Amino acid sequence: MRLADLKIGLAVTGSHCTLEAVFKEVEKLVQEGATVYPIVSENVAATDTRFGRSADWLRELKRITGQEIIQSITDAEPIGPQSWLDIILVAPCTGNTLAKLANGITDGPVLMAVKAHLRNQKPVVIAISTNDGLGMNAKNLGLLLNVKNIYFVPFGQDAPMMKQQSLVAHMDRIKDTLLRAMEGKQLQPLLVEHK
Ligand SMILES: Cc1cc2nc3c(=O)[nH]c(=O)nc-3n(C[C@H](O)[C@H](O)[C@H](O)COP(=O)(O)O)c2cc1C
Repeated sequence: MRLADLKIGLAVTGSHCTLEAVFKEVEKLVQEGATVYPIVSENVAATDTRFGRSADWLRELKRITGQEIIQSITDAEPIGPQSWLDIILVAPCTGNTLAKLANGITDGPVLMAVKAHLRNQKPVVIAISTNDGLGMNAKNLGLLLNVKNIYFVPFGQDAPMMKQQSLVAHMDRIKDTLLRAMEGKQLQPLLVEHK
């Protein structure tokens, strides 16, 4: 399997401090020939934070991928019936999106895209970034670890002494996780030391 053969849905959610690191990896995927179709949560589409203005993030996403951004449930829905994506990468994945996914809630474009894609029995890769991964969301993480066609970018505690419940995926492992997931396997080791 080569990246150049892949059509990747990139589903971006509101871990605003992680957007830059994710976009850097996505740029590499595109440079290696993958076609990346961006999808953003309503939160990413509309929230200005101290990490940047939403309009600037959207412009950057469009520049990197060269594609229009899917920003509504209506625009994400055809991913099911048309089945044009090979794989969906949710990166970064918030605790909010993780929890909704684990509980079958579909109230936004990212969740709609994932639901539509899973219906086609195709792989979804999640790159978590949440301060409650070992807290309130640990149960949802555990649930999704055991769901068919869902894979995780290896993750670890990013600041074990300061933020005891925080988990963050190692974004530099995105490419290898995608390629492994396309073979129906979880990239190992899944649990990695913080950097
Ligand atoms: C500046 C800022 C940074 C945030 N970073 C994170 C984060 O790293 N992880 C997370 O799970 N939520 C984070 N949040 C909270 C989410 O944005 C919030 O839960 C939102 O409802 C997520 O919606 P979405 O999952 O649909 O994108 C952050 C919020 C703000 C304002």
